[in-house]
Amino acid sequence: MKKEVKSVNYGLEKIFDGAQDFLPLLGTDHVELFVGNAKQAAHFYKTAFGFQSYAYKGLETGSKDSVSYVLKQDKIRLVLTSPLSSKNPINDHIVKHGDGVKVIALWVEDAKLSWEETTKRGAKSFMEPTVEKDEHGEIVKSGIYTYGETVHLFVERKNYKGKFMPGFVAWDSDYKPEPVGLKYIDHMVGNVGWNEMNTWVKWYEDVMGFVNFLSFDDKQIHTEYSALMSKVMSNGNGRIKFPINEPAEGKKKSQIEEYLDFYEGAGVQHIAVATDDIIQTVSDLRSRGVEFLSTPPETYYDAIPLRLEEFDHELSEDLKTLQSLGIMVDADDEGYLLQIFTKPIQDRPTLFFEIIQRMGARGFGAGNFKALFESIEREQGLRGTL
Ligand code: FE2
Repeated sequence: MKKEVKSVNYGLEKIFDGAQDFLPLLGTDHVELFVGNAKQAAHFYKTAFGFQSYAYKGLETGSKDSVSYVLKQDKIRLVLTSPLSSKNPINDHIVKHGDGVKVIALWVEDAKLSWEETTKRGAKSFMEPTVEKDEHGEIVKSGIYTYGETVHLFVERKNYKGKFMPGFVAWDSDYKPEPVGLKYIDHMVGNVGWNEMNTWVKWYEDVMGFVNFLSFDDKQIHTEYSALMSKVMSNGNGRIKFPINEPAEGKKKSQIEEYLDFYEGAGVQHIAVATDDIIQTVSDLRSRGVEFLSTPPETYYDAIPLRLEEFDHELSEDLKTLQSLGIMVDADDEGYLLQIFTKPIQDRPTLFFEIIQRMGARGFGAGNFKALFESIEREQGLRGTL
């Protein structure tokens, strides 16, 4: 396994010498999901994942055709949106895809320039630069389409002092479940169709100025039954990382193919959120009913000390505790990481969450892919979709 991980090309010098980044990104602004029932989904994210009520728009604020609940935990902002009548086109998105991520919003210094630079490089426009004002100042928004029906919104908020955006009001609630220690979005993964990975890699390079930072082929990512390929794209300052997966031929149906069937197209596969204390976070999440993929077998944990030794790292956490919670460990030259994956968080086997704690490693858990996929295949077997 050591050889496989070492064979990947980090190519970071390419990222950090970026003399002219035409699309400087300050970070992830928010993620918006289109869901069937935003009010109930908001309760789920508060109760299960420890998000806090933050902002709201709906009938009471003059939004006649849709309702949105904004939830926050440290730097993470989730927006949950539902239509209020059959005429709203958000319905079409939900009918086709089920609940899922519609918008990955990126925080920028200049939303007009971001739109101009990307559309002139071939991006399809979703929203022309638009200024929205209220008593707290103004926000400039623009947007482009990426894979499937997913959208990147550019959000410029330097002249805004309000809570979220014009159109929203602060949402106070007496119900404040304790946060679980989720800090920020580490990466967001997209699943695209057969033979489309390189098309989207090139799109992120050409249109967004991203760099291909890590690659895994089907020889590295496979089990007895299925395979996939993945390339990790990063922006110039390394704050935004988007791995892109495509299915590969195997004896049985891969999890990417299952996703594409149920999402009915390309879309966001998982949102990876960072914590500083994965043991506490996962203990909390489990006690609140969040379901995780099954724990890897004993043999997986038996191999961990050797894997860390190969890279000369010492585990600060107790391995037995990690095992009891089903947390996986991977290592590379720079350090190690701890990660775990939830089961899908809606009825269709599509979107899920990853909880990740980085202890120096900048990878994505390549050493865990096999154990992870075997675990997903056990679930697929139960669903009859393997
Ligand atoms: Fe991930």
